[in-house]
Formats: sequence, structure tokens, C-alpha cells
Amino acid sequence: MGRLVRVCSAEELRERERVVVDVDNESVLVLFVGGRVYALSNICTHEYAEMVNGLVVDDTITCPVHLSRFRLDDGEVLYPPAEKPLKTYKVVEKGGEVFIEL
Ligand code: FES
Repeated sequence: MGRLVRVCSAEELRERERVVVDVDNESVLVLFVGGRVYALSNICTHEYAEMVNGLVVDDTITCPVHLSRFRLDDGEVLYPPAEKPLKTYKVVEKGGEVFIEL
């Protein structure tokens, strides 16, 4: 198992639905969607855009700038112009807290 980094409490994530944390100089977006928790890079792989401002529909997120669409599960590109997937992180919930694993 890798290093666990605390994001917030599980209750806070369920209320806010989107939480951004900076970990090792990377901005990570943690989302509570449809009863599941996802963690991905907060920065689009196309140009500079913060995915926290993107549109979430089902299990996808769309970049707010040029509308690339990514799958929340594995960060895969579903719609261009982005070509590279978003980095994803494993999420661990324990003791009422949410962590990402590095
Ligand atoms: S910055 Fe996200 S698609 Fe261009």
C-alpha cells in the first residue's frame, strides 16, 4: 500500500461533493458522485484548466475550457481535444475520513 494522504472527512465530502487538495505539488480533485468517491488530477491534460469547475454527468467530467470529456473511473479521454488521460488516484475511506493513496 502506498502513502495515504487525508483529504477531508467523509461527511464533508458528501456535503461539498467537490474538494481540491494539493499533494506533492499536484492539485487533486476528489468528487462524490452517485454514491461513489473519485480522485483525479484537477488540471486538464490539454491546456491549463481546473477540472473542479467542470460539468459532471453520470461518470464523466467535462473540462470547462475546451470541453474535453474524461471518464471519472480511470481518467480516460472520451471526447477531444485532450489526448492524454487525467491521472487518477485510489481512494480509501476509513474511520469516517477520506484519503487518497499515492
Ligand atoms: S483545457 Fe481542457 S480541453 Fe482544453
